[in-house]
Amino acid sequence: MEENKVLKVACVGTGVIGSSWAVNFALKGYPVNVYDVKEELFELAKKRINESLEYLAKNEVIKYEEISEITDRISYFTSIEETVKDVQFIQESGPENYDIKRNILAQIEKYAPADTIYSSSTSGLLITEIAKFAQHPERCVGGHPYNPPHLIPLVEITKGEKTAEEFVQKAKAFYLAVGKEPVVLQKEALGFIANRLQQGLFREAANLVMNGVCTVEDVDKATTFGPGIRWGIMGPALIFDLGGGEGGIKETFDHMGPSINLWLKDMADFKEYPEGFSDFIQQGVNEELKNRPVELGNNRESLRQYRDDMLIGLLKLHKKL
Ligand SMILES: NC(=O)c1ccc[n+]([C@@H]2O[C@H](COP(=O)([O-])OP(=O)(O)OC[C@H]3O[C@@H](n4cnc5c(N)ncnc54)[C@H](O)[C@@H]3O)[C@@H](O)[C@H]2O)c1
Repeated sequence: MEENKVLKVACVGTGVIGSSWAVNFALKGYPVNVYDVKEELFELAKKRINESLEYLAKNEVIKYEEISEITDRISYFTSIEETVKDVQFIQESGPENYDIKRNILAQIEKYAPADTIYSSSTSGLLITEIAKFAQHPERCVGGHPYNPPHLIPLVEITKGEKTAEEFVQKAKAFYLAVGKEPVVLQKEALGFIANRLQQGLFREAANLVMNGVCTVEDVDKATTFGPGIRWGIMGPALIFDLGGGEGGIKETFDHMGPSINLWLKDMADFKEYPEGFSDFIQQGVNEELKNRPVELGNNRESLRQYRDDMLIGLLKLHKKL
């Protein structure tokens, strides 16, 4: 595994994701050069960064006195040259569009040293396509975070056809150094890993509700207080391994396989959500919210607050904060 040799980082794009990455990197002690197209955008970026740090201080992850020390590590530029000329790692979080990302990469290539890692936060674009006209496609990877990146540990590292393994390993070493849990995709796959898993589960949830087996509230309850609470501790493969006792996951599937295969045959395999699905599922969520006690969140704002507070608690248990 490559040693992490990054000393300074650039965040290109300071929106929702870029400003959260800046918090993550600065929190871990790195000087961060932040870039956006207009000076005016930095006001919102600074507000987001300060709010995130205040929240971490309120939850005793950092001390209030440390906030200014962390924000002092962040410098703001509207010149791409100034942003990237002396950094070893660039996290690009510009708009999700091939033309824009290719254009950003072309600008970066003019000024960044050839061995600087370019990592795109893209949620689903292919690195092969982003780096199609690059002079140095070998240093281009995808570094897909889960929102907000400064809290959620997962980063999905993706590679394009011309990405060199050396840069994948360098990116992985850096993400580990800033407290992330990187996973490397060996092949390009739409939706990467985590979003595919989420949709696999949600397709079956939709199927159960549409067939009248249960309500949306029941789906959420069954997930939260059943498998979900275990998945917050370890992944489904390890959970199944425990479920098999001494025989492990092999025993789980040897023993349960015939039953599981019957369930699989009965489960959803549709390739598109049906017409009108979004209205249908929103109605179910609205009903669910009516039944939730206020202290667990019963509107979007209180729900978000509850999620974030629980998230901090879980991350502390995982020693990720
Ligand atoms: N929002 C999410 O939940 C989420 C999660 C994971 C990954 N992503 C990915 O992260 C990236 C950014 O998403 P976001 O939600 O932060 O978007 P956003 O719209 O909040 O931010 C985009 C930023 O890019 C800036 N920008 C515009 N043109 C630019 C240019 N030419 N050069 C540099 N910066 C430019 C904008 O001014 C803005 O600050 C996207 O690729 C997105 O797919 C988003």
